[in-house]
Amino acid sequence: MIPLVANDPPREVIELLERSHRLGADPRNTNYAGGNTSTKALIADPVTGTDTEVMWVKGSGGDLGTLQEAGLAMLRLDRLRALVGVYPGPEREDEMVAAFDFCMHGRGGAAPSIDTAMHGLVSCTNVDHLHPDAGIALATAADGEKLTAQCFGDTVVWVPWRRPGFQLGLDIAAIQEANPQAIGCILGGHGITAWGNSSDECESRSLHIIRTAEQFLVANGRPDPFGEVVEANIPLESTARRARAAELFPLLRGLASTDTRQVGHYSDAEVVLDFVSRGRLAELAALGTSCPDHFLRTKVRPMVVDLPGDAPLEELEKRIRELHQDYRREYQAYYERYATPDSPAMRGADPAVVLVPGVGMFSFGRDKQTARVASEFYINAINVMHGAESVSTYAPISEEEKFRIEYWELEEQKLRRMAPPKALATRIAFVTGAGSGIGAATARRLSAEGACVIVADLNFESAELVAKELGGSDKAFAVSVDVSSPEEVVAAINKSVLAFGGVDLVVNNAGLSISKSLQDTTIEDWDRQHSVMARGSFLVSQAAAKVMMAQSMGGDIIYIASKNAVFAGPNNVAYGAAKADQAHQVRLLAAELGQYGIRVNGINPDGVVRGSGIFAGGWGAQRASVYGVEEDKLGEFYAQRTLLKREVLPEHVASAVFVLCGPELVHTTGLHIAVDAGVAAAFLR
Ligand SMILES: NC(=O)c1ccc[n+]([C@@H]2O[C@H](COP(=O)([O-])OP(=O)(O)OC[C@H]3O[C@@H](n4cnc5c(N)ncnc54)[C@H](O)[C@@H]3O)[C@@H](O)[C@H]2O)c1
Repeated sequence: MIPLVANDPPREVIELLERSHRLGADPRNTNYAGGNTSTKALIADPVTGTDTEVMWVKGSGGDLGTLQEAGLAMLRLDRLRALVGVYPGPEREDEMVAAFDFCMHGRGGAAPSIDTAMHGLVSCTNVDHLHPDAGIALATAADGEKLTAQCFGDTVVWVPWRRPGFQLGLDIAAIQEANPQAIGCILGGHGITAWGNSSDECESRSLHIIRTAEQFLVANGRPDPFGEVVEANIPLESTARRARAAELFPLLRGLASTDTRQVGHYSDAEVVLDFVSRGRLAELAALGTSCPDHFLRTKVRPMVVDLPGDAPLEELEKRIRELHQDYRREYQAYYERYATPDSPAMRGADPAVVLVPGVGMFSFGRDKQTARVASEFYINAINVMHGAESVSTYAPISEEEKFRIEYWELEEQKLRRMAPPKALATRIAFVTGAGSGIGAATARRLSAEGACVIVADLNFESAELVAKELGGSDKAFAVSVDVSSPEEVVAAINKSVLAFGGVDLVVNNAGLSISKSLQDTTIEDWDRQHSVMARGSFLVSQAAAKVMMAQSMGGDIIYIASKNAVFAGPNNVAYGAAKADQAHQVRLLAAELGQYGIRVNGINPDGVVRGSGIFAGGWGAQRASVYGVEEDKLGEFYAQRTLLKREVLPEHVASAVFVLCGPELVHTTGLHIAVDAGVAAAFLR
């Protein structure tokens, strides 16, 4: 029995997804989330039973390499093509996107992208629109039309720059019809499109265009299109380079966050280091990127530092501040030059990409993935400039066109459709002892609230497991650290800075417990407790506060102290005294760091047995014997002696961390919150 509405996608759709995955897996073919693919097939219309031509096309957003059926828009071709009859002309082409909604087949799948018309109006059954660096190099060469003819003869046709939209679709359809011998086209300033009457034919034509363009650039390109290497800008040796990057990043992140808080990404990829070492760096970077996908993420142009990366730090910092002011002024002027009364408001004048000779590229975005993709896109742009300059002159689309795209109402609508940011979005958290117990629960909670998390622990394996669970390098990063070692703490903070651009939120949680009477406590016991908890949190606060001060974005330092910081528990001299030390650090640092907007607060948990490595590792047994209960009943025992008769779990402490650093208690510093289900003897007064 044939079902009324087919459950399985037709063969053509499966082929389309497979082709998209193959094309999207190779960065030479298209940039991340760039380009789109489509197929057309006849299927039975469940309403009339007659064959209907339907197009499946990658919808707005998402990446070709991981495209799923749900990411495809499904449109009826008869209706889509009928839109040509009502099209009011290029001035009003944006209205056509809303009209696509009336061409949907069934529920229509994903939201159709701006490129939908190009796919639908070209008569071949399969179409690929891609952003390969080699293709864009030809597309942005000053004499791209001539080079395209030289490279492909009449098999690939030149289409002058036009903003993506309905008119571009009409232009390409007309070109395809007029050039039956053509397999595709180079879209001036933008990318490539290929077509075919089967999925395989389309894919092989796309690949043919890309590989032929690559070979053409290699065979005809002149060496050193970026000019000679400038002696002073030769890349610093890798350790010095990363050390300098870690010194500069907090300042750069703070400046890049002047209008909106940002997360950072650092790249010292070879192609970046080469570009920033060349004589023509400033001149070429000023031309900006060209492919709309590129500059929407990288901004119209990067900020270029004009001192060598190993210049004296103070000099470099001073110059960076000046250049940032210049950048903001120029961006404002660019906005004012082109904005019309109905342009969206200016979105922020800070750079998304900063290039530092000898050191590399710093990029910024509303989250780590956006910052990383901005970096990848600028690398695409470097490759494009390299290709175009090697055979011609790099001639990106005009600044006015860039503005029209950057502030395009359709882009604005995309931004408005985005989910509102989470409470801790853009915050970079450094949680010590985060491989286990309270620290791991805190890392999970901060991550769930949108923070980027550094999972720092003496036990690197457990830290890595937690970081992986949180979603890998765009979300969390594991570092190995012994918090009692000043060198290791500084190295761990530097790694965090290189991972996300800085530090905003520290949770001093690493700890251990030795329960012994005064006479049994050895000097080693005393020193160990104090070196991990008192000294360790001092060192972490010191190194992190330095970064926070350089960022000038405020910050939070939270100490996981203990009920035992105020309560004289039995057989607890070393642990209790170290916790009291931590608790007083909260007050001292709150007083000292308030002027930088850094808030310092503490939490006094008690009786967190489940999930705690401290309890599992002997402390539980000792405490159980002190109180005369079975070890596995210790959680219940602690619950029964509380006012609320509730067991405290790691997640409850994590919630208190969130409350202290979240959006509500912003006027609170120097406070301790008890998370102990109510222990009157440990009330704070
Ligand atoms: N569990 C409780 O009832 C309780 C009560 C009050 C306070 N606390 C405090 O909460 C914190 C976390 O305790 P937990 O119960 O989750 O313990 P846990 O043992 O589960 O976690 C502590 C983590 O700290 C790490 N660590 C130890 N020494 C370190 C060092 N030198 N450098 C870096 N990391 C180190 C450990 O590897 C471990 O992953 C501790 O400071 C503890 O004193 C716990």
